[in-house]
Amino acid sequence: MLSVENLMVFFENALALNDFSMEVKEGQIVGIVGSNSAGKTTLMNTLSGLIIDMRIKEKRRGGERITVYGKIIFNGEDITETKPNDRVKKGIVLCRERHPIFPESNVLENLKIAGYLKKTSRVREMIDYVFNLFPALVDLKSRKAGFLSGGEQQMLAVGMALVARPTLLLLDEPLLGLSPMMQNLLVEAVKGLRNDSGITVLLSEQFARPVLPMIDYGYVLENGMLTLTGTGQELMDNPEIKAAYFGV
Ligand SMILES: Nc1ncnc2c1ncn2[C@@H]1O[C@H](COP(=O)(O)OP(=O)(O)O)[C@@H](O)[C@H]1O
Ligand SMILES: [Mg+2]
Repeated sequence: MLSVENLMVFFENALALNDFSMEVKEGQIVGIVGSNSAGKTTLMNTLSGLIIDMRIKEKRRGGERITVYGKIIFNGEDITETKPNDRVKKGIVLCRERHPIFPESNVLENLKIAGYLKKTSRVREMIDYVFNLFPALVDLKSRKAGFLSGGEQQMLAVGMALVARPTLLLLDEPLLGLSPMMQNLLVEAVKGLRNDSGITVLLSEQFARPVLPMIDYGYVLENGMLTLTGTGQELMDNPEIKAAYFGV
């Protein structure tokens, strides 16, 4: 479904992603695991096309030079230079790090805003789906999003991405800062997504522990470099991973 070939991303002269290649097959949950500043967000922004907007903005204000080399192929089509909006239309939707929502709007309004480009009936259908996936949001429908807890905001953020009807959902550190219980809830929801609606998921995470058991395949990033790949089980069994992420 998605294939990334020799991706290099520079911020000025600093290399944020170094010759990174990966593959996501339809129906999989694929994980990117890496510590802080490993390049996870840079990868997500490059896959969603946000980096193109960043590049244009920086250029306009004479800021740092952002350079991208390599290729992104989605369903057989080269989308390396495709704008973020057009990627959304093709089915690639990113739920960004630290869940940006509209704090002054309530939960239902946020979900509707996320679907503003779609037909009303389809949006309603997807909003029902989101409330089904995260029943906790139902009672919070009319609450201002800014008053939700971190976990509730994350559910809302994932819900907003779903309203855009992804076929490939990109989740950048969806578990960041959440309690173990809330992490568990999100992990189960993502598995449910994949199993019930066939949405393919690529997610990034700093912590391997909650993520490795749920993924079909994983890529370990360190300083922008791919250091290890394997199935979730293979990575869990890997001595280096055990030492680095599981403290054994
Ligand atoms: N807009 C930017 N300008 C300059 N350097 C950046 C920018 N965004 C990220 N970087 C650098 O790229 C590297 C990867 O960052 P990032 O992708 O945010 O990592 P992660 O999401 O894994 O924490 C880091 O060294 C970071 O400092
Ligand atoms: Mg990040």
